[in-house]
Amino acid sequence: MSHGAAPAASRGPREWSHDQLAKIDVILAKYPTKQSAIMPVLWLAQDDFGWLDLDVMRLVARTLQIPPSHVHAVASFYTMFKKVPTGRYVIDVCQTLSCALVGAEAIIAHLERVLEPDAHGNSKDGLFTLHKVECLASCGSGPMMQVNEHFYEFLTPDSVDQIIHGLRSGNPLPTPRPEANEWQWAPRS
Ligand code: FES
Repeated sequence: MSHGAAPAASRGPREWSHDQLAKIDVILAKYPTKQSAIMPVLWLAQDDFGWLDLDVMRLVARTLQIPPSHVHAVASFYTMFKKVPTGRYVIDVCQTLSCALVGAEAIIAHLERVLEPDAHGNSKDGLFTLHKVECLASCGSGPMMQVNEHFYEFLTPDSVDQIIHGLRSGNPLPTPRPEANEWQWAPRS
């Protein structure tokens, strides 16, 4: 999945590129009807356009020959579909009980200080989007956050700083290594 889309305004009616159309053909071949391919086509659109503005949703609707309201309903239901521009790195921090008991609140407060997110969670430099989310099924490894597709567990303010500083310096996402306690919150007995 690509995540190169910085926040940007809607740019009007959209069309698929030849490459995108070829990918859509491959997707449609796997489904009995065009309508049933809505999820992978939305993923493709989000990957390539960065987020799902109304023009992109209309394009998906035309492609699948379904009402735009149907596409909008599906995109709105699933939180992983972006309805507003996001930074290149989307940070989902778990705030649910197991993580809260081991310091999620302090990690969230630290991220808010470091990123200074606006009402949509976007950082001032446009590189990050911060979301507070419910359980990400890594309950024994909290506090934890997901950055794009990667989980970072046993977080501390210092380990968060390492990750954010590295990304701001242009480094790729570090490889999570929870088995090595690389992001461990505190020694566990
Ligand atoms: S409670 Fe945080 S991952 Fe489940």
